[in-house]
Amino acid sequence: MTITNLPSTNLPSSLVATLPGDHYTDPEVFALEQERIFEARWFCAARASQLAKPGQFRTYQIGRESVLISRSRDGSIRAFLNICRHRGAKLCTAESGEVKRAFQCPYHAWTYGLDGKLVAAPNLTSMPDIDRVEYGLINVHVREWLGYVWVCLADTPPSFEEDVMGAVTERLGAAESIERYGIDNLEVGKRIVYDVKANWKLIIENFMECYHCATIHPELTEVLPEFADGFAAQYYVGHGAEFGAEVQGFTVDGSEGLDRIPGVAEDQDRRYYAITVTPQVFINLVPDHVIFHRMYPMAVDRTIVECDWLYLPDVVESGKDVSRSVELFHRVNQQDFDACERTQPGMSSRAYAKGGVLVPSEHHIGAFHTWVQDKLGAIPAR
Ligand code: FES
Ligand code: FE
Repeated sequence: MTITNLPSTNLPSSLVATLPGDHYTDPEVFALEQERIFEARWFCAARASQLAKPGQFRTYQIGRESVLISRSRDGSIRAFLNICRHRGAKLCTAESGEVKRAFQCPYHAWTYGLDGKLVAAPNLTSMPDIDRVEYGLINVHVREWLGYVWVCLADTPPSFEEDVMGAVTERLGAAESIERYGIDNLEVGKRIVYDVKANWKLIIENFMECYHCATIHPELTEVLPEFADGFAAQYYVGHGAEFGAEVQGFTVDGSEGLDRIPGVAEDQDRRYYAITVTPQVFINLVPDHVIFHRMYPMAVDRTIVECDWLYLPDVVESGKDVSRSVELFHRVNQQDFDACERTQPGMSSRAYAKGGVLVPSEHHIGAFHTWVQDKLGAIPAR
């Protein structure tokens, strides 16, 4: 097997090359990413409150697998490969739904309990010795954190504490804690799903830098003036970008927001923090709400992004107007995703065959590229 390496470039030493264009267009690279990144790491799939009652379920494409996540009778959340053990039919074909007691395969009616155990099958009495656990659904590892369900398809998952919680702690800095925002107890005030015609790495790279903020985010730079200088909040560990002097809240017009989340400290009151949990989660913290993005890579040039705006329960339950805060980041999302879609076609241009350029303020994108290459390992020559 021959190995391809990053192409050599003639860039000045202060400038660094990006990944080459085919890393954003080649289905074989995407297939490797599915296997070595999305099936190997912790993947944030669902908001736990979407699975409030036993029997409620959702299905997700994670890497090359369909995964079924549901709440069991004992109240715990379980995840399984969404594949019938009999002859391999997809068990649940809906994206979400609710069953009373069990999942029944639409092909020959094998039936599985909410704990994944095989509980019934037509004529099973003629095979009394069948092991109902052995032929139950295949379990997928599950963790709940920040009110979200994270799953891992690896036989032996990487440490959740290091890979997920550690990434958040590292970004916020030792003095800061995400726990102050009580994210697990917040409620979804608004959810918008974006279908973005771009490779997932373009979206993550865009989120990691603020070099583009002055050009495409007029509303955001109005609220966070330091973003106009191009330095992302996550450029400095623990740095929260400060609201502009005239700004009253994190809203589309800088008008007043809602009450501060009680755990948020006085010195965080006018600050915005941005965190990336590689490979598919972005978290933005502001005093009165949290914006939580999950990416679902669907194809080499298509990514679904689900964005939740999370507020204190009484804000959501009392129907308070959250539209001005939603509108700010919805516009930011649209501006970002438009930029990513504008970039995707360029990835297959000869102009980008050897990649592009990272300026110094984008150096953490270089670290992301190293991370991707490290996870992918050698890519067979194509
Ligand atoms: Fe599911 Fe036969 S494939 S019952
Ligand atoms: Fe942006």
